[in-house]
Amino acid sequence: MFSVNLAGKVALVTGAGRGIGKAIAQGLADCGATVAVNDIDPQTATLTASILSGEAQAYAGDVGSAAEVERIIDKVMDDWEQLDILINNAGIEPHSSILEMTDEQWQSTINVNLSAAFYTSRAAGRIMRERGQGVIVNIASIAGHNIPLRNRASYVASKAGLIGFTRECAREFAAYGIRVNAVCPGVIETEMTQHLRQNTEQMAKWLADIPQGRLGLPEDVVGLVLFLCSDAARYLTGQAINVDGGKVML
Ligand SMILES: NC(=O)c1ccc[n+]([C@@H]2O[C@H](COP(=O)([O-])OP(=O)(O)OC[C@H]3O[C@@H](n4cnc5c(N)ncnc54)[C@H](O)[C@@H]3O)[C@@H](O)[C@H]2O)c1
Repeated sequence: MFSVNLAGKVALVTGAGRGIGKAIAQGLADCGATVAVNDIDPQTATLTASILSGEAQAYAGDVGSAAEVERIIDKVMDDWEQLDILINNAGIEPHSSILEMTDEQWQSTINVNLSAAFYTSRAAGRIMRERGQGVIVNIASIAGHNIPLRNRASYVASKAGLIGFTRECAREFAAYGIRVNAVCPGVIETEMTQHLRQNTEQMAKWLADIPQGRLGLPEDVVGLVLFLCSDAARYLTGQAINVDGGKVML
């Protein structure tokens, strides 16, 4: 049986107060990693950290701000003296047509879903380069490949950008022993999709499009992330891999 041992590793997961990030934090902890749990919501970050199986601590803050990211990563280094795994998971998905979208909606989506990965990868990359090793996993979306979504232009643009950034980061960081990949979930049952899941027409359309016949659960994303964090994926970098029940077949 395939198992992942991350004992001795320190992992930072952004947006881990709930949903996919929380499930990833649990998976990493179950594999032995020490987990730094970030979320913009201090309460949920603390709650996630409190239920993890191993060593864990909450680091609340807005990863859409470069200064906040520097503060968070400095604190992680003060506390644990290393950073081996970075999971860029925090994300937002405002709904609006392009014609009605505000500058704030556009900019905040780009900040949280794309610029944050640059801020964290820059800070963590400098630390990982010193040790000659590290793993970065960016949680993108199938929407970043070729699935247009109605009324979510800022989201689709941010996720397509994140996949592009993943490739460039992988190319530059390979020389330092750092692997960078993106995971692209399909429709996953979290608070992000809750209001759309209440729409029976939308649900029927989704289910008809998914060969496996169901939406994903946060736990369905975790196995791929753990694999990418493990040495079993040592020759794998710069990829954007779908985990979507077969919805998109490239
Ligand atoms: N749910 C899906 O169907 C789906 C599909 C594809 C990709 N994704 C991606 O997976 C990731 C997680 O999504 P989810 O479904 O768990 O969403 P979610 O809304 O349930 O959770 C997102 C978490 O990120 C946190 N967050 C938001 N802004 C933040 C910020 N500025 N700084 C720090 N934390 C912040 C939120 O507080 C929340 O805890 C996102 O990047 C999302 O785009 C989700």
